[in-house]
Amino acid sequence: MELITETEKMKTWTREKRANGMKIGFVPTMGYLHQGHLSLMKYARSHCDSLVVSIFINPAQFGPTEDFKTYPQNLDRDLELMKPIPVDMVFNPAPEQIYPDGFQTYVEVAKLTRVLCGVNRPTHFQGVTTVVAKLFNIVRPHLAVFGQKDFQQLVVIQRMVKDLNMDVEVVGQPTVREEDGLAMSSRNVHLLPGERKSALALSEALKLAQEMARQGQRTAAEILRAVKKHIESQPYTQLQYAVLVDPETLEEVEVIEGKALLALAAVVGKPRLIDNAIITAY
Ligand code: PAJ
Repeated sequence: MELITETEKMKTWTREKRANGMKIGFVPTMGYLHQGHLSLMKYARSHCDSLVVSIFINPAQFGPTEDFKTYPQNLDRDLELMKPIPVDMVFNPAPEQIYPDGFQTYVEVAKLTRVLCGVNRPTHFQGVTTVVAKLFNIVRPHLAVFGQKDFQQLVVIQRMVKDLNMDVEVVGQPTVREEDGLAMSSRNVHLLPGERKSALALSEALKLAQEMARQGQRTAAEILRAVKKHIESQPYTQLQYAVLVDPETLEEVEVIEGKALLALAAVVGKPRLIDNAIITAY
């Protein structure tokens, strides 16, 4: 496994791989890796000749009052975790490599970023699409893998790739969970023991909704009432949103027909956690 910190060196590496006809897979991350990240790498590994992982805590996607300064990091631990995949190249640039002096160009996906997380985090997705577009230009992957845990992010990136005719296949992979159901997240490390217990209410609420749908409930308002009640009954939790939306347009649905995405966001103690599931109507 090699590690590159400079943008120009990364571009040279990828140019050579492409000249040799190799299919490049890419998994962008902010590090502090867990099994969710590793599952994306395993998928990319098995579908490509060469695997690049980026580790970059992207300042542009954090709001002024958010957790950029306290976002967890441990490069040595990350490198150990990636060894068995195996990863060919780790791209770990300093912020100046990505945002040098004079930087002033941003990528914005308009409509899809105004809902769900975009309401509480109005500048977040512009930071995500800008860095992902840059990383795609630097790494030039054939395939890029993202987690469905950040469902809105996945939909937004797929939209960007389509709208800007980017030559990369974007694939989403299922959410990896702890044994008790909590969605894995780098931010879980900041949950205190009582908060960790309350955080479980998110995945429990998803199961509750699926069970209601299985029993024939298709009215969004009814399902959301039960979901909100379950999450808000826990200590330390502040629900930001619980919505049922069309999985492609992210527009709210009143009645579940076929499939709908149940998306949740809550602040639990300090960290802000998200989770989601596709709810199928019976
Ligand atoms: P990060 O939160 O590190 O996540 C990197 C990738 O791992 C994302 O595609 C995310 O959806 C996926 N992921 C996180 N938790 C997961 C889980 N429990 N199961 C499956 N996949 C999971 O998302 C970002 O970084 C950044 O926004 C980034 C795309 C790197 C741009 O800066």
